[in-house]
Amino acid sequence: MIQDNAQLPAIGYWLPGETPPYRTLEQIAEGVHHTRVQAYVIRNLSSGAIGIGVEGRFISSIAEAAAPAEAYAVLAILAPQYPEWLGDRSFQEVHQVRFSYIAGEMANGIASEEMVIQMAKHHMLGFFGSAGLPIRRVEQAIDTIQAAIPGRSWGVNLIHTPNEPQMEASLVELYVRKGVRRVSASAFMRMTPAIVAYAAKGLTQDARGHIQRKHYVFAKISQPELARQFMSPPPGQLLAQLLEQGKITAEEARLAARVPVAEDITVEADSGGHTDNRPQAPLFASVLTVRDQCMRSYAYTRPIRIGIAGGIGTPAAVAAAFAQGASYVLVGSVHQSAVESGLSAAGRAMLAQATMTDMIMSPAADMFEQGVKVQVLKRGTMFSSRASQLYDIYRSFDDIADIPEPVRRKLEATIFQQPLEQIWNDTVRFFEQREPSQIDKANRNPKHKMALLFRWYLGQASRWAIGGVEGREYDYQIWCGPAMGAFNAWVKGSFLEPLANRSVTQIAYNLLEGASVVGRAQQLRSYGVPVPMEAFHFQPRKITPLG
Ligand SMILES: Cc1cc2nc3c(=O)[nH]c(=O)nc-3n(C[C@H](O)[C@H](O)[C@H](O)COP(=O)(O)O)c2cc1C
Repeated sequence: MIQDNAQLPAIGYWLPGETPPYRTLEQIAEGVHHTRVQAYVIRNLSSGAIGIGVEGRFISSIAEAAAPAEAYAVLAILAPQYPEWLGDRSFQEVHQVRFSYIAGEMANGIASEEMVIQMAKHHMLGFFGSAGLPIRRVEQAIDTIQAAIPGRSWGVNLIHTPNEPQMEASLVELYVRKGVRRVSASAFMRMTPAIVAYAAKGLTQDARGHIQRKHYVFAKISQPELARQFMSPPPGQLLAQLLEQGKITAEEARLAARVPVAEDITVEADSGGHTDNRPQAPLFASVLTVRDQCMRSYAYTRPIRIGIAGGIGTPAAVAAAFAQGASYVLVGSVHQSAVESGLSAAGRAMLAQATMTDMIMSPAADMFEQGVKVQVLKRGTMFSSRASQLYDIYRSFDDIADIPEPVRRKLEATIFQQPLEQIWNDTVRFFEQREPSQIDKANRNPKHKMALLFRWYLGQASRWAIGGVEGREYDYQIWCGPAMGAFNAWVKGSFLEPLANRSVTQIAYNLLEGASVVGRAQQLRSYGVPVPMEAFHFQPRKITPLG
């Protein structure tokens, strides 16, 4: 039987003040948006219609017979609601931030120093996009950020590089030396000495016996079993090895065996860039189950938090993440269109045109030979079709010499715009500095030579987009997920449509404020208020945070 609102007991009465009750559907849609005040779910005593009241006066004691004629029965009272209260309170306490919202790392400095600095100034977390950058450039970024926001919270990406373990170790050495306290670990397939050393370094026990961390690992994962590894203490043999090498102390090894490697797990659903295209809800639910198992079996005293990334570009997506229990949300694609983004103005203008179906999976530069793909922007660029064409040729032939002459000529004219010999000379120069063994291998194996040549195009295509290289617009490789299209549709015709207004913090404030409204609309609906669909739309506006 459907519960009749008229049967619900009143908890008191509400007398309107200056703001009249919100009664019609149109008025209710407006009333939902007053999130920062107490809201009364009210019932008209004669018609039984349900609406919303704000301000006015609440009387708890009079009997219905004695209620003044203008009074409404009150069925429920909703507390004022603030975007600060979305997410896990422990996230805000541990990381010393005001909002449970992260600007995710974007490679090659697209998540720039300025993006991280602006986030920190507004008491939110940002991770610098260190992947793909030489270590000197990462060090410079750390110096810039530290000088701009002393004492504030922020972090850097640590991307797993199985082919270059030394790179990972050198980055960790840099992060520890520079006092970087938060690292987002991504693309890991198993625990490595480098990430375990970072997590263990600086662990202490306070006078009450509580374990305190100096370094916080945020693990970005899209598989529950990988999440389990990060939510478990590090393998004993890795700790023993690090201790023997003098990389951690005996005390750090002892304490590390009692805490998870990562206390914050970012569950990444279908997203821009490298992605397993996982659906968010089943992935989050599965990781939550593993989290509960780990909390129980290791009897941790500090909580493990789970955040959601992937597909977040509208208030409803943020609200849905928090409604599932996410401790925090992390945004990538949409921030790439922000003024602080390291992507060129031309690239950002292309992003602003995207709809949610304008993305496609395309061969990845870093794992081209293995057939790994990344999600990129399709609209306005021919990158994905050209990269796929190269991959098909790579699969079909074992040697450049086997490619039919007309095909080769077409490649040189359109994709490479240079003779392949010239490209090969550039490739040799690049690898001579970075990894000379690749050249030896290519000289022995013609198929490997073809892979390196084709990867030249995939690598350059990202650089052309970042640098805004004229004449190469059709080759721009811009990593991007469907969230970008949803965001563009949401902000159309509003303050956030012009790119110049898209600061990363205005994007964040609007998404959070809108999520608060969506949450309120849903709550009121569940209390029996006939909330119309349009109440779930939050119109972006310039937001100046209080305090
Ligand atoms: C342009 C771009 C570059 C990215 N680079 C990295 C990276 O270097 N390391 C990483 O862990 N994630 C990277 N990501 C993923 C983001 O940090 C984030 O997890 C993801 O974008 C969230 O999904 P969304 O794109 O749907 O917002 C990148 C994403 C984009 C769009």
